Amino acid sequence: MAGTSQQLQRRYADSMMNTFGPPKLVLARGEGCYVWDADGNRYLDLLAGIAVNALGHAHPALVRAVTEQLQTLGHVSNFFATEPQVALAEKLLSLLGVPAADGKVFFANSGTEANEAAFKLTRRTGRTHLVAMDGSFHGRSMGSLALTSKAAYREPFEPLPGDVTFVPYGDPDALAAAVTDRTAAVVVEPVQGEAGVVPAPEGFLARARDITARHGALLWLDEIQSGMGRTGSWMAFEDSGVRPDIVTLAKGLAGGIPVGAMVALGDAGTLLGPGNHGTTFGGNPVAAAAALAVIATIEADGLLENATKVGELLRDGVADSRVTEVRGRGLLVGLDLDADVASEVADAAMRHGVILNACTPNRIRLAPPLVLTTDQASEFLEVWPRILEEAYQGASGRQS
Ligand SMILES: Cc1ncc(COP(=O)(O)O)c(C=O)c1O
Repeated sequence: MAGTSQQLQRRYADSMMNTFGPPKLVLARGEGCYVWDADGNRYLDLLAGIAVNALGHAHPALVRAVTEQLQTLGHVSNFFATEPQVALAEKLLSLLGVPAADGKVFFANSGTEANEAAFKLTRRTGRTHLVAMDGSFHGRSMGSLALTSKAAYREPFEPLPGDVTFVPYGDPDALAAAVTDRTAAVVVEPVQGEAGVVPAPEGFLARARDITARHGALLWLDEIQSGMGRTGSWMAFEDSGVRPDIVTLAKGLAGGIPVGAMVALGDAGTLLGPGNHGTTFGGNPVAAAAALAVIATIEADGLLENATKVGELLRDGVADSRVTEVRGRGLLVGLDLDADVASEVADAAMRHGVILNACTPNRIRLAPPLVLTTDQASEFLEVWPRILEEAYQGASGRQS
């Protein structure tokens, strides 16, 4: 039973738990980089389900892989193995440059679950102390929340699992002071996504690797938002030259089919044993087949190169006198505005048929599908000055 946006908004308010506030739009269908709302209006999707829809919407390769796998074998539980699951584990290890026997993968259904698995793994070191970064976001389940810095997310749910120290993001001296011989792990996003696309300063990951190695602590990189090609390389940490102990993945991994993964390298891969952790759905054959199709399409269609090229175009094109900084790599783009008008900008963009994200009061995030073309990026850049104009005018109208 379809309906207009207004009817569906009403049904949503009546039936859905109010954890997200009123939805911005009611979306009905998508194709490539565009989505349509329930009233038939078209939008250029520069958010991609928050850095998820790597191949855009309704990509034939993803539709085919999911359909064929569902027709063959849809779900079996982790009492049993399936070929797509094993093939995906092998593929992830190879993308991380690790021979199969030198790393192990645990599949989950989301980012927070991948991190939850990693949190449990760190406890098996026999140590409990964890170090996380100011500005971090690792998810909403209790363990991931304990590693997430934002007070507004944490405080209603305290006490959270304990023994976590926060240090300023990208500050190696503060990190060195916080890590001791009782530290189990240091968790870092190579690019902080929810904070507004903030890449770790040059050399920070290498320093974090040295500091953790000196104390026998694990280095855990959360690539849930920044990984799987989003920054124009498979992993955002790639060019740092570090070998982490743990990498967590989700979001773009299966292009919109829910899946998460925790990859543990070397000895860390043996810390969790039978009975230590589990999941009913994690890594089911449909999710695994979807992820394999996404990875194969990224490879076949040169989407890492596309992300680099179109990302540069976007970063150059959003420059404006009201934009004080543009950050990011590939198709993970953050920009700062000189006033707290990010939500007005997102609203104005929507009126111009563009979806983008206000992730803080003055920060905008773009995380479009990796298939975004230069023409589509230009289509956005053409209306960008008008979006800014309207947003600033609207905001000053409200103040006066
Ligand atoms: C870096 C990072 N880690 C973890 C998560 C949590 O992922 P999920 O929302 O799938 O639980 C997110 C989600 O935004 C994220 O950006």
